Amino acid sequence: MSKSITYQSKSVYDAIISRRTIRRFQKKPIKPDLLRRFVNAARLAPSAANLQPLEYFIVTEKEPCSKIFETIGWAAYITPKWAPSLEERPTAYIVILVEDINNKFYTRDVSLASENIVLAAEEEGIGSCILYNIDRDKIQEILKIPKTLHVDSIIALGYKAEHPVVEDLKDSVKYWRDENEVLHVPKRRLEDIIHINKF
Ligand SMILES: Cc1cc2nc3c(=O)[nH]c(=O)nc-3n(C[C@H](O)[C@H](O)[C@H](O)COP(=O)(O)O)c2cc1C
Repeated sequence: MSKSITYQSKSVYDAIISRRTIRRFQKKPIKPDLLRRFVNAARLAPSAANLQPLEYFIVTEKEPCSKIFETIGWAAYITPKWAPSLEERPTAYIVILVEDINNKFYTRDVSLASENIVLAAEEEGIGSCILYNIDRDKIQEILKIPKTLHVDSIIALGYKAEHPVVEDLKDSVKYWRDENEVLHVPKRRLEDIIHINKF
């Protein structure tokens, strides 16, 4: 039997279905090769006119990680204001940098690259959180990123310490935590968004 048949891996579809945003992480570090693998997945994402305006900055060292943590706005729907505890912080970040913000499709490129990263992470059992509510100037300063590059967003990564669940969206899009600290994520039902041949 060939190796490709015996290798047990999630299908892309399984990774899409099982992935949830994770904001609580284990202390176990992510191997550098895996982080490179995630950036490689981003590198190969579709890119408008194949212009490839993105670069990626991997952060794993303790001091910059804790400085970056301070620049993040977590889970805005959760009240009172919440952030991961010291024991449950991300163990790595990938910062997404843009060479040319005049490229009118760059946000689409970021989105596609980000999805490749979070799905490649999910395949490895690693949780992720795409973060846009960040202090870009501070991140630029902390990481000494040249001014020629624009900080778009960051992706927090780490082995999962929570397992959010999806539920059918009823009256609110707001994710919420139950009495057992499980995060519930409302999603629109397939029947409510799909149109086949006619409205
Ligand atoms: C463009 C974008 C920006 C986001 N920014 C943040 C953020 O700043 N802080 C945060 O805690 N989550 C952020 N998220 C995560 C969303 O809250 C999350 O994707 C959403 O609640 C749906 O949950 P799911 O990813 O588990 O499906 C962001 C997601 C996207 C796609």
